[in-house]
Amino acid sequence: MTASTLLPAILQAVLRGQPRALRDPHYPRWHLAPPTGLLNDPNGFIQFQGRWHLFYQWNALDCSHRHKCWGHWSSADLLHWQHEPLALMPDRPYDRDGCYSGSAVDDRGTLTLCYTGNVKFADGSRTAWQCLAVQNAAGGFDKLGPVLALPAGYTGHVRDPKVWQHAGRWYMVLGAQDSARRGKVLLYVSADLRQWQSLGELAGSQLGGLGEAGYMWECPDLFSLGEQSVLICCPQGLAPEARRFLNAHPGAWLSGEMDYASGTFRHGPLHEIDAGFEFYAPQTALSDDGRRLLIGWMGVPDGEERLQPTVAQGWIHQMTCPRELSLRDGQLMQQPARELQALRYDAQHWQGVADEAPRLAADGLELLIAAHGGALSLDFSDTLRLSWQPTGLTLARRSLASGEWQTRYWSGEVTHLQLLCDRSSVEIFINHGAGVMSSRYFPHGPSQLHITGDAQLDLQSWSLRDCMVE
Ligand code: FRU
Repeated sequence: MTASTLLPAILQAVLRGQPRALRDPHYPRWHLAPPTGLLNDPNGFIQFQGRWHLFYQWNALDCSHRHKCWGHWSSADLLHWQHEPLALMPDRPYDRDGCYSGSAVDDRGTLTLCYTGNVKFADGSRTAWQCLAVQNAAGGFDKLGPVLALPAGYTGHVRDPKVWQHAGRWYMVLGAQDSARRGKVLLYVSADLRQWQSLGELAGSQLGGLGEAGYMWECPDLFSLGEQSVLICCPQGLAPEARRFLNAHPGAWLSGEMDYASGTFRHGPLHEIDAGFEFYAPQTALSDDGRRLLIGWMGVPDGEERLQPTVAQGWIHQMTCPRELSLRDGQLMQQPARELQALRYDAQHWQGVADEAPRLAADGLELLIAAHGGALSLDFSDTLRLSWQPTGLTLARRSLASGEWQTRYWSGEVTHLQLLCDRSSVEIFINHGAGVMSSRYFPHGPSQLHITGDAQLDLQSWSLRDCMVE
């Protein structure tokens, strides 16, 4: 599509598609989802001049991964979001096949976007430009064009700039694939966001003690948590293990020491960020009060996404809730952002044997569970099942393609669960954030939670208020 045909087509798609999406019983009540079409990665997550901004990879035209624009929402409280002007459209020669993922920074008072211009060629190859755009007085963005071309030694898969400031200089990590088809994270430095100098490879497959770890690393994000640094990345092509890395593509984290003087990161092994069926391409932001918040895409680029029933209603995917990150004993902890507590109403408390627990409406629900002595199973409308064993959790769901049960695991002793439920999703926080399992599921009719087993339970629950984007 050309620049002059894409914008009218987006407008038409939204006018036609949004009412239909909002009527869909699977459309979230309080999570962020696209007005119509396909949403994938969170982009440009930032608290800028006190207000939250979240951009998103968006194809408004249909549910395929084409025509990627940056949609834009803003919020004062991380709960109530409003639509902002469309931020980026693929309308220049250097971004004609997609304004791909990236980040936002405050450049001396100007909200500035760093994104990847993706360009595909007829022979199937591609190139990528790292580009800038600055916010204008109308709330839209003016493109400044590319600031970095494809570096030598890498394929056309170099993208997803995450930019931050450290000791007065700008740093950027990029996801990359080297010419030997190994996934890497590249590090750059700049004084002004315009001229970038390479500091080499920060991490990747067959680097820093990692063995073979995938053919492409997407969406890196490097930040400090206390004394340590954490690198988040999405290594594509990691070999699945018996109970980990079972999705087509995972989100992963590594922690260690970042040495800015030499541009090196000494780190430990790769860990999965989220053990559920849908989680990918997370991005973090630092809040004004010093918290590191993360939002992920509650989706995975894989063969089954097109089979989700919302596609027939013209929309697909949603974000996770915002999460607060910390490190405890070397373990990445994720907890629902404290702002989410403002969604709670109608508090209930119940104690007893699981088999006697009340049935709960699960389409807007927060549930805290403490259990001991026995078995426990949570069944969401016969569509998604969580079983709690002494050795961990098993989450089961039928494949949309084959109808066969598929399972995801969290290993370790479980003492507490915190579940955040929406109409077609659940986020399960384990042991105060030591693990998370995020999954979509598509019940027939409003979701009901049925708890069974002989474990002794202490349940605390709240209904969650609807929170639509305006
Ligand atoms: C991750 C990703 C990014 C890319 C974007 C395109 O889901 O593949 O690497 O920038 O999606 O939409």
